[in-house]
Amino acid sequence: MNSETSILQKIRLKYEPVLPAILQKDISSIGIRYGEETESVDNQAKLKEFFPHTYGKPMVEFTEGKSPEMDRPIHIGVVLSGGQAPGGHNVIAGIYDAMKAANADSKLYGFLGGPSGILENRYIELTGSYVDRYRNTGGFDMIGSGRTKLETEDQFKVSAEVCRSNGISALVIIGGDDSNTNAALLAEYFREDGSGISVIGVPKTIDGDLKNRQIEMSFGFDTATKTYSELIGNIARDANSARKYWHFIKLMGRSASHICLECALQTHPNIAIISEEVEEKHTALNEIVHSVVDTVVKRSEAGNNFGIVLVPEGLIEFIPEMKGLIAELNTLLAEHQNYFSTLHTYESQSEWINKNLSRDASYVFSSLPNNIQRQLLMDRDPHGNVQVSRIETEKLLIEMVEDQLNELNSEGKYNGKFSTQHHFLGYEGRAAFPSNFDANYTYSLGYNAYLLISFGLTGYISSIQNLAAPSSEWVPGGLPITMMMNLEMRHGKMKPVIKKALVDLRDTPFKTFASKRETWALKTSFVYPGAIQYFGPDEVCSRPSMTISLQSR
Ligand code: FBP
Repeated sequence: MNSETSILQKIRLKYEPVLPAILQKDISSIGIRYGEETESVDNQAKLKEFFPHTYGKPMVEFTEGKSPEMDRPIHIGVVLSGGQAPGGHNVIAGIYDAMKAANADSKLYGFLGGPSGILENRYIELTGSYVDRYRNTGGFDMIGSGRTKLETEDQFKVSAEVCRSNGISALVIIGGDDSNTNAALLAEYFREDGSGISVIGVPKTIDGDLKNRQIEMSFGFDTATKTYSELIGNIARDANSARKYWHFIKLMGRSASHICLECALQTHPNIAIISEEVEEKHTALNEIVHSVVDTVVKRSEAGNNFGIVLVPEGLIEFIPEMKGLIAELNTLLAEHQNYFSTLHTYESQSEWINKNLSRDASYVFSSLPNNIQRQLLMDRDPHGNVQVSRIETEKLLIEMVEDQLNELNSEGKYNGKFSTQHHFLGYEGRAAFPSNFDANYTYSLGYNAYLLISFGLTGYISSIQNLAAPSSEWVPGGLPITMMMNLEMRHGKMKPVIKKALVDLRDTPFKTFASKRETWALKTSFVYPGAIQYFGPDEVCSRPSMTISLQSR
């Protein structure tokens, strides 16, 4: 770590996260309450076969009681998996503090560079002074992260050997839905092979798509959306001052539109597109463009040639005709990868593509602006899918809106000005200093993860409930990961996976947005949330996200 630190970092290092009341007690007086046995969300019989040792375990909650004697020290391994999310360092600090409180001789090892660190046996011992340097900081640079997936039997075997050779009896995997799915498979493997190593997952991702009734939110969402909302608010205020630009802002979040929805609730933009609604209503690209044009024209008639449009990162995949086109492109490029790589000019590539696509798909492809066609032909991800985050949907919309406005103008139906700016907000929020909410939440998740280990559990995800209340009233516990799973087709096979949570159009956060959006479209009702506040009144500094507050109603 750089020896020069900012003033805020120095101050934040001293922040003491507030644990749920029960976790504030002496660690030896924390007991456990077992709930009813659980079932997976779907495909129960099949999942039982996949997880004969770990399926259906009960949910647990920590209460006053007695924790197991920790007279023998243990070694725990921890790994950060996937994209950065604010608060990852505090999860590690929470595990460390709970582990040391139970037995000062226990040791925590951090695997380096993500799950590949386990396979390559690359780790560091996380000492007190090392952990202290990262408390309440953003990023994952304490031990690094990576996107290697631990999913094959060979990888599981190597993981078991690495843990055994280092005396590690428990692994904590901090990751998103894929990493937690793999944590469940690894836990099952470690039961089957008799190594008895326990595996505990922690729900991480700014995308907010790893959630259900018990996991109210993945960590990082709160800070990332507050950071984006600050920036959107600043842009909105600039737009309202200069009154000359329409800003199209694409927001990270992969498939789900949780981030876009939360930022809309916080900032009241003129338009926020929600991918899940586009899919449910089968809205075509042209219709989306048309509705943006409609708002631009109406605002222009009122003298307002400016505005804010929020676009979720994964939108393109939810538009019916684009979905079909992308699926055909993915298959074509996977099946003819070698031939395609011999086509060196864009013209030859697009000619070949157009010849091989179905008539409908070819029509959609040809109707797209040239730069978007090129982006759709770019390198695939390791699963052969188009990398949606690299498609500049915000620019696509600007171009198409402009075209329609020009048409209206030539028909004498619009004579406003349409000057635009485009933005992509993503990396700006992933490694930010965690908000008080995320600092408390992640520290509690880590503390909790240690407790799950100490009670001999495996295949569980650390869970903290009642998140809309102050952190001292949160309810710590754990749930078996199998409970969140169903079967989905992956690489041509039905595989057990954690069901991704998309925006629920019947839930209060979306309904609240839907009830306000017409007003926000025409009236300038921007809200400027400002920077994340760390010091000051609780209703400013410790407020949960709108999503958390609304979904608990
Ligand atoms: P995780 O799912 O691993 O938490 O990452 C989420 C995310 O930030 C998405 O919002 C985004 O699409 C993606 O990562 C970008 O990935 P990369 O860091 O590889 O560019």
